[in-house]
Amino acid sequence: MRISSRVAVLTIFLSFFAYGSFSIEDYRQAFPIIEPDPGHTKLRLSREGLKAIERITNPIAAVAVIGPYRSGKSFLLNQLLSLSCYEGFGVGHMRDTKTKGIWVWGAPVEIDIDGVKTSVFYLDTEGFESVGKSNVYDDRIFALANVMSSVLIYNLPETIREADISRLSFAVELAEEFYGRFGQDVAFEPAKLLWLIQRDFLQGKSVKEMVDEALRRVPNVEGNKNIDQVNQIRESLAIMGDNSTAFSLPQPHLQRTKLCDMKDDELDPMYVKKREQLKKVVASIIRPKIVQGKSLNGKEFVSFLEQILDALNKGEIPSTGSLVEIFNKGILERCMKLYNDRMGKLGLPTSETSMQRAHQGSKEVAMKAFDEQHFGRHHAKKSAEKLIEEIEKVYKNFILANEYQSSKLCEALYTSCEDKMDQLQVLRLPSMAKFNAGFLHCNQSFEQKCVGPSKSSYELRMKKMLGKSKSLFIKEYNHRLFNWLVAFSLVMVVIGRFIIKFILIEIGAWILFIFLETYTRMFWTAESLYYNPVWHVIVGTWESLVYSPILDLDRWAIPLGVIVAILLLYWRCYGKRKPGSSWILPLYNSHKDERRSE
Ligand SMILES: *[C@@H]1O[C@H](CO)[C@@H](O)[C@H](O)[C@H]1NC(C)=O
Ligand SMILES: *[C@@H]1O[C@H](CO)[C@@H](O)[C@H](O)[C@H]1NC(C)=O
Repeated sequence: MRISSRVAVLTIFLSFFAYGSFSIEDYRQAFPIIEPDPGHTKLRLSREGLKAIERITNPIAAVAVIGPYRSGKSFLLNQLLSLSCYEGFGVGHMRDTKTKGIWVWGAPVEIDIDGVKTSVFYLDTEGFESVGKSNVYDDRIFALANVMSSVLIYNLPETIREADISRLSFAVELAEEFYGRFGQDVAFEPAKLLWLIQRDFLQGKSVKEMVDEALRRVPNVEGNKNIDQVNQIRESLAIMGDNSTAFSLPQPHLQRTKLCDMKDDELDPMYVKKREQLKKVVASIIRPKIVQGKSLNGKEFVSFLEQILDALNKGEIPSTGSLVEIFNKGILERCMKLYNDRMGKLGLPTSETSMQRAHQGSKEVAMKAFDEQHFGRHHAKKSAEKLIEEIEKVYKNFILANEYQSSKLCEALYTSCEDKMDQLQVLRLPSMAKFNAGFLHCNQSFEQKCVGPSKSSYELRMKKMLGKSKSLFIKEYNHRLFNWLVAFSLVMVVIGRFIIKFILIEIGAWILFIFLETYTRMFWTAESLYYNPVWHVIVGTWESLVYSPILDLDRWAIPLGVIVAILLLYWRCYGKRKPGSSWILPLYNSHKDERRSE
């Protein structure tokens, strides 16, 4: 204790000079990073200790030691880190408090792995088989250590018992769930299992043989369910065998209680030799933790830890299913984005069938992407269901948006058509052709442009409005045309008599006037006139006069009238003095008088 506090003081002192700040802590000590919750069934993060990891910017690797309570895990870790019991992890009989949850040695060992500077953290875990806790708790610690670490040292005294194997069920499940994907990102690299049997092998059996033997199927003639289960785990472990290593360590010294006070030269030389070998083995198999194709720095490692802790705390027992969901979360988001992007390209509003088709197509693409990328063999179904659920939810939003856009567009078309129809009603010179052109344009632009779910309802409204407008127009049209013609004939009478002084025009105008006023009033009603062939001729003439593709008289009536008036005036003033001009047709006297006077 005195040494460690001295070191602490020294480090603080040094860091004060190095950084000019007191906030730098001494990381050369063990920190808890995972603690049991008060009920001792679930786990929670210990923020204080995580700072030791968060500050690291190198890729991180972790070596976790798991094993039964009082199997000497802390001592082993101190040996691997070359620490004495006084400064390193609390050794069982040295301190009253035994390791609870998961602890980390705050100062990582920096090693070069394939040219990458990697910070290796050593983790001590709470031993299992102690009384007063649920098995679920042990399983959680086990599972967490399994997911977090790159090398899992399974520290077993003397031998491998059936219970020790059945504890690896989660590791096996994880392996089967996650590690079978080739050629793509793996969710995370499996922890390499290192069986460490602390025992003096005197009977000539190698540790490898011992592990192999323990992993061999045992006959199960009675069909015991428990044995079946363990056999299954054995099989899976054997398949993963490539990635597990067996190693044995002899007893460091016969006097176990004095171990902490012994220097290396007092320990069994065989132990020291094997311990150094073990360090080398660990260094040779350790790799930075790779999660979804990326190594993690301190901050990322901690957030990864948070995620898996959440997943493992979920539910009654830690399950690989909830872990699968976590890893699939990012993929789910990507697939959703894929769906969204494809649907976004659709361009709203659109018809319901093309919407449906786009939805089906995009959904297929998203599901296919998910199928190709997802993690988990057996538990991915839930994520897939979630994806479908999300897609349907988004699809509903697209439908709503489409409805809104469609009704907005159709409403705008309807309104503009309504305005146009109103304008056509009040033409100065009513023209059937012009009205029809506008009518057709409205109909066509509506049919072409109004798309989507609102079309049918707006089509009904539109038809009704157009129909009403048309019948109103026809009624007004004949009436106004009649009035116009009456006015026109009167004007022509005036023009023929006083301006052009051309008797045929005046006569024609009179005939028209009489036809319209007297004749029709006497023999027919105005309505019956509109069915008369003569009226059709008049309408035809009027139509071609008033509205043609080249000239819209309604628009140009006033300018043209002005021009004609000017021309007439000009002709009146200029034409008088022109002697050569003569008319074939009879004209009024005034002209002759002028000639005579000349
Ligand atoms: C051993 O681990 C590597 C990755 O470290 C993996 O690619 C390989 O499939 C594993 N072997 C077995 C048999 O699980
Ligand atoms: C447009 O005209 C076509 C053919 O005359 C008709 O079937 C359709 O209902 C019309 N649409 C509207 C909105 O009036």
